[in-house]
Amino acid sequence: MDSTGRGDEHSGHRPGWWLGAVGYEVYVRSFADSDGDGIGDLPGLRARLPHLADLGVDVVWLTPVTPSPQRDHGYDVADYLGVEPDYGTLDDLRGVLDDAHALGLKVLMDLVPNHTSDLHPWFLDACSGRDAAHRDFYVWREPGPDGGPPNNWVSHFGGPAWTFHAATGQYYMHLFLPEQPDLNWAEPRVWAAFEDILTAWFERGVDGVRIDVAHSLVEDPHFRDNPLLDQPPSQDGGTGSVFDRFAHIHDLDQPGVVDIYRRWRRIADAHDAVLLGEVYVLDPGKLRRYVTDDALHSAFAFDAIKVAWDAQEIRSTLAPYVAACDDRLSWPLSSHDDPHAAERFGGGEVGARRALAYLTLLCALPGVPFLFQGDELGLDDAVLPEGVAEDPITLRLGVRGRDPQRSPMPWEPGPALGFTLGTPWLPVGSNRGPADTAAAQQGDPGSHLERTRELLATRGRLPALTGHAPLEWVVDEGPVVAVTRGDEVLVALHVGDGEGDAQLVLPEEARLCYATDPRAFLVDGELTLPEDAAVIVALDEETAP
Ligand code: NOJ
Repeated sequence: MDSTGRGDEHSGHRPGWWLGAVGYEVYVRSFADSDGDGIGDLPGLRARLPHLADLGVDVVWLTPVTPSPQRDHGYDVADYLGVEPDYGTLDDLRGVLDDAHALGLKVLMDLVPNHTSDLHPWFLDACSGRDAAHRDFYVWREPGPDGGPPNNWVSHFGGPAWTFHAATGQYYMHLFLPEQPDLNWAEPRVWAAFEDILTAWFERGVDGVRIDVAHSLVEDPHFRDNPLLDQPPSQDGGTGSVFDRFAHIHDLDQPGVVDIYRRWRRIADAHDAVLLGEVYVLDPGKLRRYVTDDALHSAFAFDAIKVAWDAQEIRSTLAPYVAACDDRLSWPLSSHDDPHAAERFGGGEVGARRALAYLTLLCALPGVPFLFQGDELGLDDAVLPEGVAEDPITLRLGVRGRDPQRSPMPWEPGPALGFTLGTPWLPVGSNRGPADTAAAQQGDPGSHLERTRELLATRGRLPALTGHAPLEWVVDEGPVVAVTRGDEVLVALHVGDGEGDAQLVLPEEARLCYATDPRAFLVDGELTLPEDAAVIVALDEETAP
């Protein structure tokens, strides 16, 4: 205990490379295949790293590359320190890290601490008997009075969150698939095991971790039933799942979960590494508890990926997050769990235009904007043939699921659009063509790729956008969302209302730094902004390029 009596508190630092960074999610399985087996891999990714460096991103998050039976595509981990043979070897991973670092990129690995695979040696041992060494690594309960599950908790992927293990006569808990048993974070040896895993990864040169379902690790010690919602939400997260019918007050976001990250923060800080949480808590005040100087460096603000193409909704959704968390958030444009932004905002060319304009706004917020692979090409989701289903959500619930956003990256015209020389594990999509590829867009100044590259470069040149300049929302109503950062920069997004161009009066010395649409112009302080477009404007002469 120190002289202040605060004992275990740790006021962490934030790596300089994180502040002002732009992130990019790589869905490894669908990024680039080097050996023709149709599955993306680490050598394939390594060969494509220059694409990411040239795009202007700083931090690359890799979806899990650890060994896994792939029941949930890597989010069922069988060995936290190994590399999935389909993706390569530990040496291949070292090669990715070395090349990424040489290109100035940082790499975040995906850490899955809520659950393991049912084939993880810990779980295999835990199933061997009630007194097995690893029994308490998992959440076991006696059956309920009727012999059924111990409580009414349900899985994200449908069905009860409990599976009966006949050989030992108890139920084990799983917030996802039965093949993804939840770890028991009331067990100190689980804490110790993950502290070792984290240390090992950082010692290998990994620059940080994205923490899977970071709000879910701890459960109510009394395992009380979750109340049913009176009114199930109209938007149910896309799964149509019974999960959305409950108020998850006893299984998610429980007291004590942040304490885990307090321990991890010390380890991360000692390695200049970053902890980025997948904290699916859609309440800015509650989310703030996770992103403190002694817990997570950052967390995704998932509401950013949920908003409709509506100015009022965008303003009223994002503003409270900035107010509560300032620059401690990461802003996902898309992800492997959600439709691409271009899909959400209407699909096709209109969707792509809007996605770029929305990314421009995200680039104006304090914190880290995150692209998902394909966003830089303006991709909406793949149209897949009937009957193709790889995602457990689709397989179990028969709904659309997440396959369409996980289709292979289109690199160049030709078979499988350059993703593989073999048959891709998931079709590229009947709506994809040569014009969607990175090669076709490269060097074409009007292409989505080049417009995105210019956006990220412009952001990087403006310290007001990457630093601590205070943010203000300057237009309260109407179809234009606009923010200023200090006195230096204004970013405006016109979501459109069918009324055509919007006009904004700005200081006379204001200069246009970037526009998603070449029809935007600024003359003598009068800004003309077409619908579905966004601009970055330098407000004073010093800032102007
Ligand atoms: C969140 C991941 O992003 C998702 O893909 C996965 O299915 C669940 N966590 C379970 O690990």
